[in-house]
Amino acid sequence: MLFEDLKPQVIHILKDNDKPVTDRLYLICKLFKDNIDYYDWVGFYFKNEDKEELKLHTYVGEKTDHVIIPFGKGICGQVAVSNENFVVPDVQAQDNYIACSLTVKSEIVIPLFKNGENIGQIDIDSEVSDPFTEKDERFLEFVNQEVAKIL
Ligand code: SME
Repeated sequence: MLFEDLKPQVIHILKDNDKPVTDRLYLICKLFKDNIDYYDWVGFYFKNEDKEELKLHTYVGEKTDHVIIPFGKGICGQVAVSNENFVVPDVQAQDNYIACSLTVKSEIVIPLFKNGENIGQIDIDSEVSDPFTEKDERFLEFVNQEVAKIL
């Protein structure tokens, strides 16, 4: 499915104020995993209170042991510090990488800003090599901007 077709569905899910935020974020993860064939694991991490670490909030895909990730560790931890998108075409080429599953080949992590502060991120793992383009980045930036509005 095209990203442009998913955008109105993202907005529709997020505006359902009768549902808890966690449920809405879960539906976003599920929407992406179900409709984008190379999105195999989709999750949101957020800064864990005042600690220098990320905590897994909501995800769809294989269960992961990496519920807590210290700032600076792995792709996610690096994005928590850099405030920059991180696109990894080949996870095996990364030194500072936390493996969740042996089948994962690539990853994209996009920071989520609220009032200019990096408070979390969306993380996608793919079992396809080098699938992510600038279109994924622009789409996921849009998603994070919309999510920030309900936080
Ligand atoms: N691979 C990530 C860890 C999180 S899992 O992908 C769910 C990383 O290197 O930070």
